[in-house]
Amino acid sequence: MNRNDAQKTPATFQVKSFGCQMNVYDGERMAEMLGTRGMTAATDGAAADLVILNTCHIREKAVDKVYSDIGRLTREDGSRPMIAVAGCVAQAEGSEIQRRARNVDIVVGPQAYHRLPDLIDRAGRGEEAVDTDMPLASKFAALPARTKQARPTAFLTIMEGCDKFCTYCVVPYTRGAEISRSWNAIIDEAKALVDGGAREITLLGQNVNAWTGEDDKGRAQGMDGLVRELAKIPDLKRLRYTTSHPNDMSDGLIATHGEVDKLMPFLHLPVQSGNNRILKAMNRSHDAESYLRIIDRVRMARPDIAVSGDFIVGFPGETDAEFEDTLKIVEQVRYAQCYSFKYSPRPGTPAAEMDGQIPLTVMDERLARLQALLNRQQADFNTATVGRTTDILLERKGRHPGQLIGKSPWLQSVVVTAPDLSIGDMIDVDIISAGPNSLAGELSRRKAA
Ligand code: SAH
Ligand code: SF4
Ligand code: F3S
Repeated sequence: MNRNDAQKTPATFQVKSFGCQMNVYDGERMAEMLGTRGMTAATDGAAADLVILNTCHIREKAVDKVYSDIGRLTREDGSRPMIAVAGCVAQAEGSEIQRRARNVDIVVGPQAYHRLPDLIDRAGRGEEAVDTDMPLASKFAALPARTKQARPTAFLTIMEGCDKFCTYCVVPYTRGAEISRSWNAIIDEAKALVDGGAREITLLGQNVNAWTGEDDKGRAQGMDGLVRELAKIPDLKRLRYTTSHPNDMSDGLIATHGEVDKLMPFLHLPVQSGNNRILKAMNRSHDAESYLRIIDRVRMARPDIAVSGDFIVGFPGETDAEFEDTLKIVEQVRYAQCYSFKYSPRPGTPAAEMDGQIPLTVMDERLARLQALLNRQQADFNTATVGRTTDILLERKGRHPGQLIGKSPWLQSVVVTAPDLSIGDMIDVDIISAGPNSLAGELSRRKAA
């Protein structure tokens, strides 16, 4: 193996993020940090001196992908970049990664990536460079301030980690305990993002609505107070948050959906299963009925809210009848969009040791039935917006000249032909047609309702 690149000081880098939006956020912060250290993002990823794979451990497939990606980084001439594995696989597997993939130079966990510059130096000297500490002092305090992104939408992590310990899930182990960032740090970062051009901010956390803190006057605050404060930033037009947990859906946050115009009418609130025995075995600490009551109350506060969720089919011991309960709750909620997964046993989690692991063929069949229903609901939701006038925030170019793509308040992609407009503009459009994954709009003469 030619280790030339791996042993010199890297000048260019590429960060590839997998998994959830929190990884996307972390990837941006890593890139910004390396930028302030004088490194530049490689224009051609294949030629980067340093490649950081910011990985996800949530399902087995996500992990397999990392190892196949590492293999593919070797170039035709046998040389390779310096390779860093960051993110949740790094945390879960630590130096084990280097036993399985010898050409990995750096392993850095999601709470330790502020130390990347030092790890790069160590790897450059051929020394061991593994850091999966979860230091008490937050990485956020050690990272440089945000650099201007010049993009209309931005992510902002406001809390990290998870204390819920659902029996199937690795996140409490890979991300550690729930820790909220401070009120001031969040407000300052939001203002910096808006100064840099952001018009929409999505607040992030593994259980984002578990955020707690004190405001600048020392008063106890929850996510609702934080949202109300952020909504005061004049040039910030839209706020979103993800992912939320049913048990942290406070009365105050539900009310905020009816009272703060800038908070978009979209709620990602995973339920995982519609069956109470399974929910108990998952340690979800809510049941189907309490979940449905929350959805009702959110809809009372904000009748047009789009509800989204996550589902797992084939949790150990799930019978046909118990799976039917999942279809039933989907029928009751009427989702705008959803993610659904086959249960994947994860090392170290209680569910992986449970009796009654479900055969793949059964899981395939259940997933297909669930997804057919969810796809129908998504199409129905999209069709119901045809004829409405709504605002969209233009985010990127479309496929054809003059085309731009923006998001509706309900997180649908809307394609418009508007050669005179630019990315970052907020415009009113009439929705004229709906496909399964996007809508078509026309510039409106009316004002959005
Ligand atoms: N904190 C969020 C979700 C984090 S993980 C929540 O509690 O809702 C994102 C989604 O991945 C989960 O909602 C779940 O549907 C899915 N997931 C997590 N572990 C899984 C596993 N072992 N197998 C299959 N899907 C899983
Ligand atoms: Fe995982 Fe459950 Fe925590 Fe969500 S709440 S991150 S599913 S343990
Ligand atoms: Fe994956 Fe870690 Fe996010 S396991 S889903 S990258 S918190």
